[in-house]
Amino acid sequence: MNNFNINTDIYFGQDSLDKLKEIKKKNVLIVTDKFMVDFGVVEKISSKLNDCNIQIFSDIEPDPPVETIAIGIEKLLEVKPDIIIALGGGSPIDAGKAIKELAEKMDTGKTPDLIAIPTTSGTGSEVTMFSVITNKNNNTKYPLVSESMTPDMAILDPELVITAPKGITADTGMDVITHAMEAYVSTNATDFTDAFAEKALKLTFEYLPKAYKDGNDMISREKMHNASCMAGIAFNMGSLGLNHGIAHAIGGKFKIPHGRINAMLLPLIIEYNADLDNMDMNNYSEAARKYHDIAKMLNLPAQNIRLGVHNLIHEINSLNRTFKIPRTLTEM
Ligand SMILES: [Fe+2]
Repeated sequence: MNNFNINTDIYFGQDSLDKLKEIKKKNVLIVTDKFMVDFGVVEKISSKLNDCNIQIFSDIEPDPPVETIAIGIEKLLEVKPDIIIALGGGSPIDAGKAIKELAEKMDTGKTPDLIAIPTTSGTGSEVTMFSVITNKNNNTKYPLVSESMTPDMAILDPELVITAPKGITADTGMDVITHAMEAYVSTNATDFTDAFAEKALKLTFEYLPKAYKDGNDMISREKMHNASCMAGIAFNMGSLGLNHGIAHAIGGKFKIPHGRINAMLLPLIIEYNADLDNMDMNNYSEAARKYHDIAKMLNLPAQNIRLGVHNLIHEINSLNRTFKIPRTLTEM
């Protein structure tokens, strides 16, 4: 028996932030970072809420450490919000999820709803049950996993991503490709997770280069925002793999942006998973077959499995070159 579900209500497309106008007379805690305050995004969100008591916790830093989560829990216990809005890239959303989860475990008697509003198109955290927290003492990243951390609502408004600079657009976009590919070749993959992974890959290969070239291209930004969420849905049920395992270990030690280290690893991981050198023509690995499927779907030359896998790796390397992503840690 198998199961597939999406526990998050998803609002997407231009003006989807207007969904917030339906929130009236509530206690709201916004969990975010300083940039979102400085660039007026918190103000934009707050202005949509009707007659609400709004408290802001804007101390979230990249790769949020355990200590920041603890301060956030204190804030939550003080505010006792009806709704938490986690606003920003992966870090504030992961932090919002962890704060809500851990405060709940302390039995506060009230379970606030969690609304995730991503401002980058990458982590998919707005629809997943995962949150990555860092222990600064030993530079280790810990993934927390709990179905109850899955946000109740996600709002994917592309207007919030148009200001993302080229480097962040590239890094986060390559994270989307990595999520979708890892979910697709995962041993936990199903027809349902494959459907979301395939669409995420199709959209990303088409629109990421366009969003990178012209950040103001609203259509490409919207497609990438949707793709990021779909890849999140795929890996939430289908799991990630070796790529993210290694990326978290290296990222914890060297503070390389998450998407960039994923992108650097991806060609090598595909080669390792496909294991072409140890396979003969009649005995390819399941992973090799699925990479071949991706190559065909992307219209890459893929007359046979070997060629398809090689050209998929070639395509990822070519994207990395376009995005000026280094090839090695030394180069980095
Ligand atoms: Fe990721």
